[in-house]
Amino acid sequence: MKKSLLAVSISLSLLAMAGNVQAASIKAGQAKSATCAGCHGNKGNSLISMYPKLASQNEEYIIKQLHAFKDGSRNGPMMASMAAGLSNADIDDIAIFYEAQKVTRNSLPALELDDEEISDDLSDEQQAELKEKAATNKLAAQEKRDAMLVLGRDVFLNGNLESEVSACIACHGPEGEGNKPAAFPALNGQHADYLIKTLNDYKAGKRTNNSENIMRMIAKRMSDKEIKATANYISTMK
Ligand code: HEC
Ligand code: HEC
Repeated sequence: MKKSLLAVSISLSLLAMAGNVQAASIKAGQAKSATCAGCHGNKGNSLISMYPKLASQNEEYIIKQLHAFKDGSRNGPMMASMAAGLSNADIDDIAIFYEAQKVTRNSLPALELDDEEISDDLSDEQQAELKEKAATNKLAAQEKRDAMLVLGRDVFLNGNLESEVSACIACHGPEGEGNKPAAFPALNGQHADYLIKTLNDYKAGKRTNNSENIMRMIAKRMSDKEIKATANYISTMK
C-alpha cells in the first residue's frame, strides 16, 4: 500500500474507532441519566418550565455545571445530591448523551389575559359586550407579546448601549447555539421560566461559578423588563 493510502486508511479506522467510542458513551450516558429523566425529561427535554432542558446542550458546559453542583460552587438544592453520586466518567457519558439529543421547540409565550367570565346568567346584551371586550383584550395582549419579543430580540442582537448590557449573540451565537469550545451554553429552545430564574440568580449574585463573573456583570445591568423579554425571545429561538 502506498504511504498516503496507508495514512488515509489508518485515519479512517481511527475515525471509526472514535465514532464507536462516542456511540458507546451515548448509550452509557442514556442508561446513567435514567434518574435525571424525572425532572429533565426523557431525552433532556423537560416538560416543567422551571427545570432546564439539557437536550443539545454542549457537552463542555454540562460537564462544567455538574462538577460545579458536585463541589458546591453552583447552588442547586435539587442538583447537589444528584451530582454527588456521579463519577467523572458518569458525568462525561451523560454530557455526551444530552449533547446528541435534539431540543424541542417551545410554543409562543402565553398571552396575558384576565378576561371576565362570560356566564349564561348574564343577559345576551351583557354577554355580547363582554365578548367584544375579550376580543379587544386579546388584540392588546398580542401586541404586548409582539413588543416583548421585539425588545428581547433587540437585546439579544444588540445589547443595550445605554446601560452597557453586552449583546448576547457575541457569546451565545447567532442562533443561540452557544460556543462549544468555550463552554458557553446553548440557550435556544430553553424554557423562559428557567431563563428568567437563572438570570435573576446571576443578577442577585446567587450563581457565581463562572470566570470573571461574566454573566453577573451582564445580568445586573438588565432591567426586569429586559430579562423577561430576552428570556421569552430566546425560548422561541430554534
Ligand atoms: C428533582 C429534580 C431534578 C433531578 C432528578 C435532576 N435535576 Fe438537574 N436540575 C434541576 C433543577 C431545578 C436545575 C436548575 C438549578 C438552578 O436553579 O440553577 C437543574 C440543573 C441541571 C443542570 C444545569 C443546566 C443548565 O442549563 O445550567 C444540569 C447539567 C443538570 N441539572 C443535570 C442533571 C443530571 C445529569 C441529573 C441526573 C443525574 C439531574 N440533573 C437530575 C432538577 C433536577
Ligand atoms: C462575554 C460572553 C457572554 C455574553 C456577552 C453573554 N453571555 Fe450568557 N453566558 C456566558 C457564559 C460563559 C455562561 C456560563 C456561565 C456559567 O458557567 O454559569 C453564560 C450563561 C448564560 C445563561 C445560563 C444558561 C443556563 O443554561 O443556565 C443564560 C440564561 C445567559 N448566559 C443569558 C445571556 C443573555 C440573555 C445575554 C445577553 C444579554 C448573555 N448571556 C450574554 C457568556 C456570555
